[in-house]
Amino acid sequence: MGERILIPLLLSFNCLLLAVAQDITKDFQVLKSLSDSWQGQIPNWEGSDPCQDWYGINCRNSRVVSISLTDIGLTGKLSGDIGSLSELDSLDLSYNRGLTGPLPQEIGNLKKLTKLTLVGCGFTGRIPDEIGSLQHLEFLSLNSNNFAGPIPPSIGNLSNLTWLDLADNQLDGSIPVSSGTTPGLDMLHKALHFHLGQNKLSGQIPPKLFSSKMTLIHVIFGSNQLVGSIPETLGLVTSLTLVRFENNSLDGYVPLSLNNLINVTDLLLSNNKLHGALPNLTGMNSLKYLDLSNNGFDKSSFPLWLSNLKNLTTLQMGNLYLDGTIPNLLFSIANLQNVVLKDNHLGGTLDIGTNYSKQLQLIDLTSNSIEDFKQRNDPPQIRIILAYNPICTETGLMEDYCTNLNISHTKPQNNCQQGSCSPDQILSPKCKCGYPYTGTLTCRAPSYFEWRNTTLLEEHLMQEFQSDNLPVDSVSLTLSPNDPFQSFEFSVQIFPLGQTHFSQQNKSRISFLLGKLSANSAFNFITGNHDDGPNQTSNSSITAIIIGVAIGGSSLLLVLLALAGFYAFRQRRRAERAISRSNPFGNWDPSKSNCGTPQLKAPKQFSFEEIKKYTNNFSQANDIGSGGYGKVYRGTLPTGQVVAIKRAQKESKQGAQEFKAEIELLSRVHHKNLASLVGFCFEREEQMLVYEFIPNGTLKDALKWKCELALSWSRRLKVALGAARGLAYLHEHADPPIIHRDIKSNNILLDKNYNAKVSDFGLSKSILDDDKDHVTTQVKGTMGYLDPDYYTSQRLTEKSDVYSFGVLMLELITAKKPIERGKYIVKVVRNTIDKTKDLYGLHEIIDPSICSGSTLEGFENFVDLAMECLKESGVDRPTMSEVVTEIEDMLRSVGLNLTSESVASTSSSHRFEVSIVSSQQDHPYSNEFVGSSAERLYSKSEPS
Ligand SMILES: *[C@@H]1O[C@H](CO)[C@@H](O)[C@H](O)[C@H]1NC(C)=O
Ligand SMILES: *[C@@H]1O[C@H](CO)[C@@H](O)[C@H](O)[C@H]1NC(C)=O
Ligand SMILES: *[C@@H]1O[C@H](CO)[C@@H](O)[C@H](O)[C@H]1NC(C)=O
Ligand SMILES: *[C@@H]1O[C@H](CO)[C@@H](O)[C@H](O)[C@H]1NC(C)=O
Ligand SMILES: *[C@@H]1O[C@H](CO)[C@@H](O)[C@H](O)[C@H]1NC(C)=O
Repeated sequence: MGERILIPLLLSFNCLLLAVAQDITKDFQVLKSLSDSWQGQIPNWEGSDPCQDWYGINCRNSRVVSISLTDIGLTGKLSGDIGSLSELDSLDLSYNRGLTGPLPQEIGNLKKLTKLTLVGCGFTGRIPDEIGSLQHLEFLSLNSNNFAGPIPPSIGNLSNLTWLDLADNQLDGSIPVSSGTTPGLDMLHKALHFHLGQNKLSGQIPPKLFSSKMTLIHVIFGSNQLVGSIPETLGLVTSLTLVRFENNSLDGYVPLSLNNLINVTDLLLSNNKLHGALPNLTGMNSLKYLDLSNNGFDKSSFPLWLSNLKNLTTLQMGNLYLDGTIPNLLFSIANLQNVVLKDNHLGGTLDIGTNYSKQLQLIDLTSNSIEDFKQRNDPPQIRIILAYNPICTETGLMEDYCTNLNISHTKPQNNCQQGSCSPDQILSPKCKCGYPYTGTLTCRAPSYFEWRNTTLLEEHLMQEFQSDNLPVDSVSLTLSPNDPFQSFEFSVQIFPLGQTHFSQQNKSRISFLLGKLSANSAFNFITGNHDDGPNQTSNSSITAIIIGVAIGGSSLLLVLLALAGFYAFRQRRRAERAISRSNPFGNWDPSKSNCGTPQLKAPKQFSFEEIKKYTNNFSQANDIGSGGYGKVYRGTLPTGQVVAIKRAQKESKQGAQEFKAEIELLSRVHHKNLASLVGFCFEREEQMLVYEFIPNGTLKDALKWKCELALSWSRRLKVALGAARGLAYLHEHADPPIIHRDIKSNNILLDKNYNAKVSDFGLSKSILDDDKDHVTTQVKGTMGYLDPDYYTSQRLTEKSDVYSFGVLMLELITAKKPIERGKYIVKVVRNTIDKTKDLYGLHEIIDPSICSGSTLEGFENFVDLAMECLKESGVDRPTMSEVVTEIEDMLRSVGLNLTSESVASTSSSHRFEVSIVSSQQDHPYSNEFVGSSAERLYSKSEPS
């Protein structure tokens, strides 16, 4: 009898083994097919058992349960085969920008999935409805992709979802809520996070979305196109700690119920059209960061209830028609740091009292009616700005507080010897040269944005890396050139330990770690280009794409203005003074023919004799043009490199200090869409700049080519994209930020592949190319391209470049000079546009040489974008990075394969998120997901 029983038992055991073996074979086949469809190199996927140490794979009971392939340069599409991995619990393919195409609907077959993380890839198309059948899903992060279309209502079926992050996509339509038959987000009672910011969501915020059943702590809807009023029901979600509705078109009154939200620390309602009485937020006692700026509230005196918000650290109430005086009680709030009240009508005497907060850093009252300022004997480290107040304008006072310049936020320089790094390397805070992993860190909860002192956060990140055994030497955070109070943004550099650059594997691990931290953090991390390495050419090009940030009257403009204005001012003053000051190049003896370059990193100093040789004694044959600056010669270096040498004529020469400043500025700027400086010559009364030679000449000339040679439509788009990327870099990633001031077709060069390179940037007066046929006014720039806003206000912002870029776009369409026979191209187009007609009825003025076959795909969008750039008022214009995103979309619609070409620069724009200082117990994120069983990327698969 015993045997009889035993045999079937054995048999069934064998069957079981067989079944398991078949499943793993199937998993193997799926993974093989996935890796075949991705061109990326996945290390170590060898043999036929994925559970044997395969990179990024974890198994349980011989089945694949998690895939984690972050930031390893995968390109291609995600195949529907993924749906066959029936035991998959967690899928993370974040930061593979080259991973494009739609998210396959088969994703809905992964019934056991609890965590889906596809941050910062290049996914396009709609989010498939099938996502709503992932019943066990708890964590869904699809942020920073190019998803379009509506938010699938089916997401409402994910009853266990706690984290929903769809931010920074192109999603449109309204926010779905349930109705009799369809599900909606209001059903997600376990959700803690709704991150839907930086999309194109429209319609009203549905009142039904919020109820007392919700347990949300974060509602982030900022930078969308939402309209209507803030629903009264928001006040029912008392668990909320962070509410961001900024940069929408919300109107109506602020509901009284908001005062119930006693745990909210960050409330951002700025840049909307809210009206009615200024809300009385008495009772919201947790508030730390309050921004009500730029709304249409009724005129009001300075609200007294503000002084009762005892935890307030930052108050932003710019442009709100506030009048009366500021009670000094306000400044006695114990932790108050920043008070920004610009563009109001506040008057009287500014008196911060004696009992002011010791944390105070900034009081910005630009453009008010302050008449007097009671200075305290022992001025703390407070930056007070009273520019454009009667106290300054009517008295002509030149006190520090009357300028809005030099807001000092730069870190103390480290005391390293700069000279020791090779040109493309960067010096770490610990004085080591290397190629850091770079990116941008932004805060979701602005109250954690500490723009004066980044030490804590640096230390925290360092600890995280160390505890993960990552070979990190140091972390450096610097305030990025964007408006700190709009972007809450730092640039980050992570330096390798004991080597000059991170291995691919360690970069991937860093990305993974930062991605993991994102799930319990108040920070957003956008990686820059971290494919830096000794062999990379564009090692410092960061093209983080930041959408929907630029808003009017913001301190961004002021900071830029401050930097630019200060710079220009200094230039002018210096130029007026003696030109013959001591040689700034110090020990570089200009009479020596081969000087070292002890102080400057990148550009090489050439002697006059050398240049003479390279240009064949400035021969006629090598004379390739001239401009206001002087003549341009072609030359060949001994290395064979062809260069363009700009030789300043007498009137264009600058003082030695200016010339040095110019070179230092130019040498810090590296981007594939910017003409790069190779070197210079400063000797024998000569000033010459040596640039890389760009073979196809200027865009201006290219637009004159006829038919067969003429630029096709897609080439024009590509040129526009390149120029836009170059400019975006100057505005957002150069340090200090650079406003070009003279964008025109003459300053856009084309290389042999028609990649655009922006040239002639820099702020120097004299270096600007004054064409003979254009008048240059005191306000720098070229007629026809000049921003009217800048012209009238004399206030220079990066939006002036955006305007000029708009003109350039029209030039690309029409091949006409901006002003031709007394006609201004902008006016002509504006008056001709008829949106009901094909090509907006612009046939007459379209360049007949766009012989592109016929269709001008995306033409209307291009015109729309140009008109956005040409808006009268700078604040209404998009930022250059928004322009970049738009043009990228157009190129995709023309079917131009952007990916292969743009990976180099946009792989740099991954986004992910990193955690908040976890010791801050009172923070909304501090207790979430901490210690969640996040799989380790490198741990071996479990024994089976
Ligand atoms: C949701 O989570 C609860 C608690 O973790 C669990 O018991 C339940 O099975 C989950 N439901 C689904 C559909 O996964
Ligand atoms: C507000 O925060 C406190 C402290 O974190 C917590 O105990 C309380 O439950 C919160 N209130 C609500 C309504 O969630
Ligand atoms: C604001 O609201 C509080 C509490 O509701 C009230 O006591 C106070 O008078 C109000 N202040 C103003 C200026 O309306
Ligand atoms: C204010 O901040 C302190 C210290 O961070 C905290 O203990 C307290 O609970 C906060 N008050 C409110 C009302 O949130
Ligand atoms: C920054 O903060 C750290 C820690 O809080 C402190 O030790 C350091 O002195 C601060 N640095 C500056 C420049 O204020």
